[in-house]
Order: sequence, then structure tokens, then C-alpha cells
Amino acid sequence: MDFRETIIKIIKKSTGLDENAIDKALSVPPDQKLGDFAFPCFILSKKEKKPPVEIAKDLAGKIKPGKEIEKVEAVGPYLNFFLNKSQLNQRTLTSVTKDKDDYGKGAEKKENVMIEYHQPNTHKAFHIGHLRNAVLGDAIIRSVRFAGYKVVAATYMGDIGMHVAKVLWYLKTYHKGPYPEKNRGEWLGEMYVKAQNEYEKHEQHEKEVKELLQKYEAGDKELHELWKKTRQWSLDDFDVIEKELALNIDVRFYESEVEKEGKDMVLDLKKRGIAVESEGALIMDLEKYNLGIFLVLKGDGTSLYSTKDFALAKRKFEKFKIDRSFHVIGSEQKLYMKQLFKSLEILGFPQASKCQHISYELVTLKEGKMSSRAGTGISYNDFKNKMFEKAGKEVRKRHKDWKREDIEKAISQVAFAAMKFGMLNQDNNKKIVFDMDKALDFEGETGPYVQYAHARACSILRKAGTKPKADVKFELLDQEIEKKVIMLLNKFSEVVEQVAQSYRPMLMTRYCIELAQTFNEFYHSCQILREEEDLKNARLLLVDCVRQVLKNALDLLGIEAPEQM
Ligand code: ARG
Repeated sequence: MDFRETIIKIIKKSTGLDENAIDKALSVPPDQKLGDFAFPCFILSKKEKKPPVEIAKDLAGKIKPGKEIEKVEAVGPYLNFFLNKSQLNQRTLTSVTKDKDDYGKGAEKKENVMIEYHQPNTHKAFHIGHLRNAVLGDAIIRSVRFAGYKVVAATYMGDIGMHVAKVLWYLKTYHKGPYPEKNRGEWLGEMYVKAQNEYEKHEQHEKEVKELLQKYEAGDKELHELWKKTRQWSLDDFDVIEKELALNIDVRFYESEVEKEGKDMVLDLKKRGIAVESEGALIMDLEKYNLGIFLVLKGDGTSLYSTKDFALAKRKFEKFKIDRSFHVIGSEQKLYMKQLFKSLEILGFPQASKCQHISYELVTLKEGKMSSRAGTGISYNDFKNKMFEKAGKEVRKRHKDWKREDIEKAISQVAFAAMKFGMLNQDNNKKIVFDMDKALDFEGETGPYVQYAHARACSILRKAGTKPKADVKFELLDQEIEKKVIMLLNKFSEVVEQVAQSYRPMLMTRYCIELAQTFNEFYHSCQILREEEDLKNARLLLVDCVRQVLKNALDLLGIEAPEQM
């Protein structure tokens, strides 16, 4: 049991509040002088019919200090708890050493959660907005899972629709071959840009593309062949990206596999009078919920996102028995997602109320556009190559003596850390103007900075030559900075839980920075290897625990923790 739980139990015993309410209210004071935990008594004033200041006073008199708690003090409306230092040290460091990679993990929970993310469209370039989605979704999945929930990680690829029809139309009308041998997914992305340009040249083209889509949806063999072949080119590219980003994927959905079922569903809705015809198209009137008109089938009978999303939701709910369903999707789809969830409710899915849109904002580059081949966005490949080039300079500068393959591994670790951390160290609802040099700065608030702190801990442990002892004189860790480090280690599971509840991995990037900075401060102000035996052992154990927690935290962000940098 950790300290937080101990304190929750104590408060529960003397107030009768339920554990969840206490857990929500219990906080860590900004200043250590105010104790290690603070409980705001105003949440009790309604029940007790007394001012919170009085309640705090009463409770402070009632709660007796014990083995874990040194002192309980009322300060204004707050009840402040001071932990017993050597107990705190011992418990924290012992549980890190014991739990290792599982340190910070939440208790198993019954709920089944599906998190849909990584929904790029085939026949189009994978750009840095898709990267933000993938990295964000993956970090949320890792944290929700680590917090104890059963998570099904799902992708949903847009492999059919107008964008695909445009490319097929372009290939059939303007580019009859030859097709490239390599990088075919990327090439398709370029074809999409060309197709789009051509498409806009004549009004006539819209009709042509629509006809092609109708023909395709009606089952045209030749079009289907071309679709199947080209679709695979994009999927092969996505496969490479998924591997290099180490994304968690349990199930894969495709728009093409729910298209037919979606159509059947909306036609059935028409029969039941839930969807009605309007100017040839099928719509659901959501005006009375202030959600406007929801288009569910186009006038020419072809499907829309909504058509397919109905069937997708059905599959998710029925086949996977999920209790909650999350969608990591850009903020521009906010209204659409509200319309969708409301419609699912009208359709009679009880899980509709458990659907949630995890929205995030756009990404641009500080440098602006990189090339026009990918259209208006910045292609992931261009971005990644540039990041590798820049990371390469940094790594080579530092390690002239390293073997080639070690250098290459380090470059990749640093580059991906910078990309991922840069994407996550910003709140979901804020735009990112990605600054490549800043993201790679070893001294900034970056992925490589956190990795470096981890590598430093590893290097100290290597120099010590022996494995740190688990049984040390815990009371020797009595410096202010040491206590700060230990409190942070202790806080880790709380941060995991917060990320899992709020879907904001930024809380974890902030935690990483804070732990890395505090550790560096400790390293600069406390000697380790030159101390006398007992203190040296205690500090080495602390270093080892910081190493472990940094590794666990980075892992939740999908970032590797190198032992040498
Ligand atoms: N592929 C779509 C796009 O790029 C996003 C799909 C979002 N997911 C969903 N269930 N509608 O715009």
C-alpha cells in the first residue's frame, strides 16, 4: 500500500467519506513546508454544517500520528499530513526495486475500453498531423492499460471514399503506367495531389469521379483490382511507420469493410422513419439537440463517414463487448463526433453514452512547408528524414569513437524521442508549431533531455561496479533534494492515473521533465561514489530507482530509454 492509500484510509476512518471522493480531493502541496499531502476540508462543510477551518482543526486533533505519519496539522481549511521520512524512503525505494517495470501500475479494473486512433487514409500521404494522432493515441493506450484497464487498441483506415476515387480516376485517365517499383505508397500520395489539381480544373471531373465511385461501390471488377493493388501499397507504408513508432495495435478496421453494412443500416433507418429523404440524400434531423442536420447517405447513393461509422460502432459494441469507446480524432471533427454519438443513441445503442471524442489540434512546422509533393501538409517521411539528419549531427559530434551500428541506433533513439516527446509535450487542445532544433535540444525540455538523465543514472551505476544493495540505511537520505526526488518517485502512480483519466499524456511529459531536472539537481549537489559506504549505498539505490521510474515513464510515452548516450 502506498502512502496516498494509507492517508486515504485514515481520512476515511475519521470522516466517513468514500475513498474516491478523498482520492480526488487529496493533493500535494506546492511547498514541502506544508507537508506531503493536503486534504481540503471544504468538501466536508456541507455534510458537517461547519466551516472548513473548524473541521480541519477538529480532524487535526482527532487523527493521531503513527508509524507512517509524523505529524498532522491544520492550516486554514486544509489538513496537512507530514510523512515519516525514513518510512517514506524505505517504502518508496523498496517498492520501486521490487516492482521494477511494473512500478506505478494500477490495480486491475473490470472495464473494457476500446481506443480508436491511427486512422490514416490510403492513397494519400501520411503527414505530421497523422503522426500526432498516432503518438498521442499510443501514449493514451499505454497509460490507460498501465492504469489497469483492459484496452483494445484499434486502428481504422480510410481505404475507400472520394479521395480514393480521385486517385483511381487519375490513374485510369491520366497515368496509365508505368508504376514505380519502390516507395509506392508515397508515390500514391503524390498522385493524390496531382489528381486533386486535375479534379479542380473542370466541373465535368466531379461527375466523372462520382460515377467511378458509384461503379466501384456497385462492385466493378476491374476497379476493384486496381483499388486492391494500390491500397496495399499504402498499407505497406503504414506498416513500416507502425513498426518504427512501435504502435500498439490489437484490431484493424477498414472503411471498406463497413461500407456495405453501413448502407444497409441507413436504408433500414429510412424504413423505420429515423432517417428521412431530403433533396435525394438521407438525413437525420438533430435540430432539437442543437446539432443541426446529419447527412447519412449522399444523394447519389454513395456512403459518407457517417454511413460507415454506424456499422463500425455496431461492430465495436457487439463483437468486442466494450464498456467505453474512445476516438482519437482531430478537433475539426468535433461537431461531427457529437452528431455521431447522438445518432448512435437514437439508433438505440446503450453504449452511445460511453463514447468519447479525444480531440487534438493541428501541427505545423516552425520552418513552414518542406515540399509540395505531399500537398498542403508536411509529409511524415520528409519530417522524419530531417529529424534523423539533425539528430545524426548531434550524436556524431558526441561519439566520434562509437561503432557505426551503435551510432545509428542512438540516432534513431534520439530522433524518435524528440519527435514523440515534442508531439506529446503540448496539451491536446493546443496547436503545435513544431520546432525541430528545440525538440532535439539535449538541455531543453525534450525527449533527449529525459533520455540523457536516464543514461546518466545508468552510467553512475556502471561506475559503481556492483548492483545497488536493496537494504540500505534509508534514514541517511535526509537532504531536501533527496526528499524531493523520493516524493516524485512516489507520485508516479498518481500521474499514471491522471493521464488515464484525462487522456492528457502531457502530464507525463511534464512529470518526466520534473523528475529529470530534480535528479540532475541531486547529482550536482550530492556526491555519490566518493561518499562513505553507507551513504554511497543509499544514494546508489536512489539513483537506481530514478533510472527505473524514468524508464517506466518514458515507456508510457512510447520512448526508448538508452543506457548510454
Ligand atoms: N480517416 C478519417 C480522416 O482522415 C478519420 C476517421 C476517424 N474515425 C472515425 N471513426 N470516423 O479524416
